Amino acid sequence: MRRVVRAAPNLRGEVQIPPDKSISHRAAILGALAAGESTFENFLASADCLATLDCLRSLGVDLRLEEDGILRVNGRGVEALGEPANVLDCGNSGTTMRLLCGLLAGRPFRSILTGDDSLRSRPMQRVAKPLATMGATVETHSRGTAPLAVHGGTLRAIDYLLPIPSAQVKSAILLAGLQATGLTTVREVSRSRDHTERMLIAMGAEVEIDAGRVSVRGEQGALRPHHMRIPGDVSSAAPWLIAGACHSDAELLLTGVGVNPTRTGVIDVLRAMGAQVDVLEERNQGGEPVADLRVASSRLRGVEVSGELIPRAVDELPLIALAATQAEGRTVVRDAGDLKVKESDRLAETARILSTLGARISATADGWVIEGPSRLQGATIETLGDHRLAVLAALAGSLAGGETAVEGAECVDVSYPGFWSVLEQTPTVERARRVG
Ligand code: S3P
Repeated sequence: MRRVVRAAPNLRGEVQIPPDKSISHRAAILGALAAGESTFENFLASADCLATLDCLRSLGVDLRLEEDGILRVNGRGVEALGEPANVLDCGNSGTTMRLLCGLLAGRPFRSILTGDDSLRSRPMQRVAKPLATMGATVETHSRGTAPLAVHGGTLRAIDYLLPIPSAQVKSAILLAGLQATGLTTVREVSRSRDHTERMLIAMGAEVEIDAGRVSVRGEQGALRPHHMRIPGDVSSAAPWLIAGACHSDAELLLTGVGVNPTRTGVIDVLRAMGAQVDVLEERNQGGEPVADLRVASSRLRGVEVSGELIPRAVDELPLIALAATQAEGRTVVRDAGDLKVKESDRLAETARILSTLGARISATADGWVIEGPSRLQGATIETLGDHRLAVLAALAGSLAGGETAVEGAECVDVSYPGFWSVLEQTPTVERARRVG
């Protein structure tokens, strides 16, 4: 499907931010490990999270996603998981594949995990290797990618330093660690999102967290059922934060947004660029901090983005690059080489999209150099089925002159199913006309 986006005279109003994708995956998986029924309000019914639900059902988990967005998981502990009758299709979702690998590493049966073309091109050795060290058999394609054959078994604890910060790999090891003998420790140089740790603690697991490391004891027995309302996804708030900061006549209130500090790098970067972002009414939802965010038109200046900020803003970096095209001066992004192996090569593709629209951006080995400000001009943009690129193209189009056609627009459903209708309902209504 193709959507056409045009610039808007102003950008004002309130946007209710859709549920967090990372927390939704973990809710379903950890809910299955509890003894009893867990309920999660505001579950994200996006393609990625639905893939997790389907895989869990194939493993024998009793769960139900109700019309009103409540996920009920009737957990029976890890031992109740059974050998799936068919391959587990993780679709486009790296989180589904990597977390399930960790879960299945301790199960005494064989599972095959596969996914779409994009997921089957992504590196899986990063999860296969530590799980094999723990005693599981994890076979990859000879390219080190999916399909994966996981044959779980008796696991021993490991103490593992993540070569690249990754919440997916960390969570896989923790899920295996829960089933291992001894204390499993994962160390990371820069802190990645900690939703797994938070939910495990809320469900009564013994988890130790110290600077740069997290440890979990194995064989603790079933988790306690959990009841929470899943916060809005800061990654889905990011497009509106960027649009609000960059547009010359904007004031947006974004409600119910998760502000877990391991995820809020985009707010820190925007503030460092001079943006006005207010965090209002901070509260707690089931162990996760939540707030409303207000953003208004701002004069932005170029900054350097690197180091510990990268994992805290990893999915928002393409949008940060867009903000940099509207900022005065040079922005340099470093340490972000892992963007090459996301749903697409986001380093190269972000540079391609923004330069097609007239920005001055060049990709480096591990980031970009962007000179701003540039007047963007509409063009036709191919999104390669990558949801974050489709959102990037739409937002860039809303700041550009003329019309921007976004090809393959439907892939936003992977993380943000209502995205196009929100774009249509903002005062920029006719911007996102559907044409195909
Ligand atoms: C995620 C972790 C990140 C992120 C992805 C979701 C998660 O991936 O990019 O969108 O839910 O754990 P990595 O672990 O590969 O950095």
